Amino acid sequence: MKSTILILIGLLIFSCGSDNNNDYTPIPEEQTIDFSNILTIDFDNLHNYSNQSIPNYIIKDNTTPGNEITNEVATLGRILFYDKNLSADNTIACASCHKQSLAFTDNVQASSGINGLTSRHSMRLVNARFGVEAKFFWDERAINLETQTTMPIQDHVEMGFSGENGDENFNDLIAKLELTEYYPALFNFAFGSEDITELRIQNALAQFVRSIQSFDSKYDVGRALANNDGQPFTNFSPQENQGKQLFLQPPVYNNQGVRINGGLGCAGCHQAPEFDIDPNSLNNGMIGSIASNIPDLNVTRSPSLRDVVKADGSANGLFMHNGSLTTLDQVLEHYNSISLTNNSNIDPRLSPGGEGQNLNLTEDEKQAVIAFLQTLGGTDVYTNEKWSNPFIQ
Ligand code: HEC
Ligand code: HEC
Repeated sequence: MKSTILILIGLLIFSCGSDNNNDYTPIPEEQTIDFSNILTIDFDNLHNYSNQSIPNYIIKDNTTPGNEITNEVATLGRILFYDKNLSADNTIACASCHKQSLAFTDNVQASSGINGLTSRHSMRLVNARFGVEAKFFWDERAINLETQTTMPIQDHVEMGFSGENGDENFNDLIAKLELTEYYPALFNFAFGSEDITELRIQNALAQFVRSIQSFDSKYDVGRALANNDGQPFTNFSPQENQGKQLFLQPPVYNNQGVRINGGLGCAGCHQAPEFDIDPNSLNNGMIGSIASNIPDLNVTRSPSLRDVVKADGSANGLFMHNGSLTTLDQVLEHYNSISLTNNSNIDPRLSPGGEGQNLNLTEDEKQAVIAFLQTLGGTDVYTNEKWSNPFIQ
């Protein structure tokens, strides 16, 4: 009704205006975008990125003010994420190292960029938005997600627009995108003008990454029915509930750092219900480096533990910044007995009384925590078209 009235008023104004034939500016036509020869996207009917349902118990959000998700900009972000043109030799896209079928990580220890291998393991990007920590990368060197997104592009090894040692620079990338058939129109569609800038690329990629969410796990079904995380979940097996308690409760140690009671203290750093990392976490004792013999002491961030494994228990690639662990069993073994050798940046929670923690884990406890971690895996995020490759191959 309201819109009919508006249209009528519009027609009135329009017809009055057209009486004066000398100066009349036509109302610009709604822009239609059709790149069906290149992309599978229906631009008149975008996927929903901006208004996805988020459970009411999820409250942490690192969205940078001013870059809230819109469907237009996130759609552009999706195209950029899958576009190999973002690398200097047109062979590598973000998605080459962040694969949807693996919760957006990679199944190799070090990923291949255009000029060699990465020096750390690729990170899962599921639920990256839902955390207190706003800094990104294993060592938190990017001050926010927007800044992070163009760092791989400007990395000599990864995508090659470093501007150093004969590499092209970011302006060369922009010039290259300006010459494509689709980007000028797509930037106009998303931002209202054809200008391609680093800031716009960052905003679009960050919106797409923040849109990648997973809240259809067994854990979520149980959490929605409970008042808090501590309550037994009615949809959990006794083993899963036991694992949940072990994950949530802090340990009680004797004065040699040996656990004599309580849980395993995982949630002190991987905070439920987002399972995001505590921003104050120091390293977790995993200090081996892929690329050198120098200990990697600065890794203090972990991706959300949601979808660390799939709901069926299969791993999304390898674990930890050096991809040195292949099973959750090994992860639990790591926390069971923390070594402090050569480690000056261990988190105090893992070195009670100055000793590397010994969780004194029984096999039952280990299997219970593994069963619980499996409940954090969803299903939609691995296959939903809105996060998939939009290019016609
Ligand atoms: C050659 C492989 C490769 C490419 C290409 C790549 N990444 Fe990554 N990505 C990685 C690795 C490895 C890390 C972890 C690096 C580190 O922390 O030192 C990472 C980390 C990240 C993180 C941090 C996640 C977190 O929770 O802190 C984000 C976000 C990300 N990448 C997004 C992107 C985007 C966007 C692109 C494309 C512009 C991209 N990546 C291209 C391998 C790659
Ligand atoms: C002191 C903080 C802290 C505690 C306590 C802690 N973690 Fe972590 N966790 C981290 C950090 C930091 C990383 C990233 C370390 C790295 O890759 O080197 C991590 C990584 C992981 C990973 C690998 C994530 C990935 O993407 O590869 C898993 C799984 C994990 N932790 C599970 C647990 C479990 C289970 C417990 C309890 C037994 C636990 N953590 C206790 C800080 C902690």
